[in-house]
Amino acid sequence: MKSKPIHASMSHFQVENNNLLIGGKTLAQIEELVGSTPFYAYDSNVLASTIGELKQALPNKIKLHYAIKANPFPHLVHFIKPLVDGFDVASKKEMLLAIQTKMPLDEISFAGPGKTIDDISASIVAGVTLHAESITEITRAIEVGRRLSIKPNIAIRVNPAFELKASGMKMAGGAKPFGIDEEQVFELLKSLDYEQMNFRGFHIFAGSQNLNSEAIIEMHHKTFKLSQQLIRASKVKIDYVNIGGGLGIPYFPGENWLDISPICQHLEHLLSEHAETFDCVDVIMELGRFIVGRSGVYVSKVVDVKQSRETEYAVCDGGLHHHLANSGNFGQVIRKNYPVSIGNKINTPAEEYKKATLVGPLCTPLDILGDKMLLPSIEIGDYAVVYQSGAYGASASPQGFLSQPNLSEILL
Ligand SMILES: Cc1ncc(COP(=O)(O)O)c(C=O)c1O
Repeated sequence: MKSKPIHASMSHFQVENNNLLIGGKTLAQIEELVGSTPFYAYDSNVLASTIGELKQALPNKIKLHYAIKANPFPHLVHFIKPLVDGFDVASKKEMLLAIQTKMPLDEISFAGPGKTIDDISASIVAGVTLHAESITEITRAIEVGRRLSIKPNIAIRVNPAFELKASGMKMAGGAKPFGIDEEQVFELLKSLDYEQMNFRGFHIFAGSQNLNSEAIIEMHHKTFKLSQQLIRASKVKIDYVNIGGGLGIPYFPGENWLDISPICQHLEHLLSEHAETFDCVDVIMELGRFIVGRSGVYVSKVVDVKQSRETEYAVCDGGLHHHLANSGNFGQVIRKNYPVSIGNKINTPAEEYKKATLVGPLCTPLDILGDKMLLPSIEIGDYAVVYQSGAYGASASPQGFLSQPNLSEILL
């Protein structure tokens, strides 16, 4: 009998009988562990193998940093710590988490616009590197550093003139609130008071969620060229260039896993072409979702099944308030379905599948988990699983909305 076991692209998870396993446990076992649904579960084997394969493919020279904003679940961040070379943080709270993992301080960078005096002084005391997003931030860091008698570690986030084409989220090129425009940076480098800081280098982050290897290759080409010019224009020796990230993961029908081998080969080529420039300069790649996205699932339980005219609805105990991105309300223009399965009916034969719409418990039509999806026949008590949920899930969702019960997270 032909079976449609699991969403084809989710075969990195184990299956036992009809059950999806996360970290070797069935969803019913995980429910026992955490006490109730809904929950996020992260598979540490998948996480470790994703990072291992990525490091294997990247040139040795490239350091890999994890952007904690993608998933700040503390146990997960501690687990990742020995597997990567550094952390990027986007707030004081993320910075406190990062330093408590005992990651070497010179491998922690603090980026993001709107850093307050409090953020800046905390990061100077901690000894991490500020990625300055504006001239004001540099001035503030110098003033705070003087007051504290500690030289601030500063790198400049550069808003390049180019953009990352075909990107899910463009974060550079044209007018952007991130970084300092490259034209201004060249001027700034002439007048910077290098005595007042440890000037560490440059951060060029052009975009996020990109599945087009050619666009990423073109971005790397331009990033290396710009970096070379910036290094030449700096009056002191720098420690690193952070070339950003942007590697995406497939969420929606028709999207494919990114083939990173041409990207890595091209990086190898760029490194040998620019070998002299980067001889004593580290090159850092900074990734969030590519590291954690595929390792996580969001699981809720079906509490009601009802028919409304032509549509069968499965009403689940989790939804938009825990997984905003899956509901289509986190930057998407048109809502599309994430990969979804019924986690206790994984090996149901394809001919037994039928269409159902999975919704959450919130009294809003926006609370959709999966719209008109082909799934095994759904019953009350089944587990609805949303894949590709390891990044921008719990921490990127309005958990207080409608005062629903709390969410659990577990790394297994
Ligand atoms: C500066 C910076 N670094 C890293 C990331 C992580 O991006 P992703 O999770 O797509 O890899 C972002 C995302 O917005 C970012 O703004």
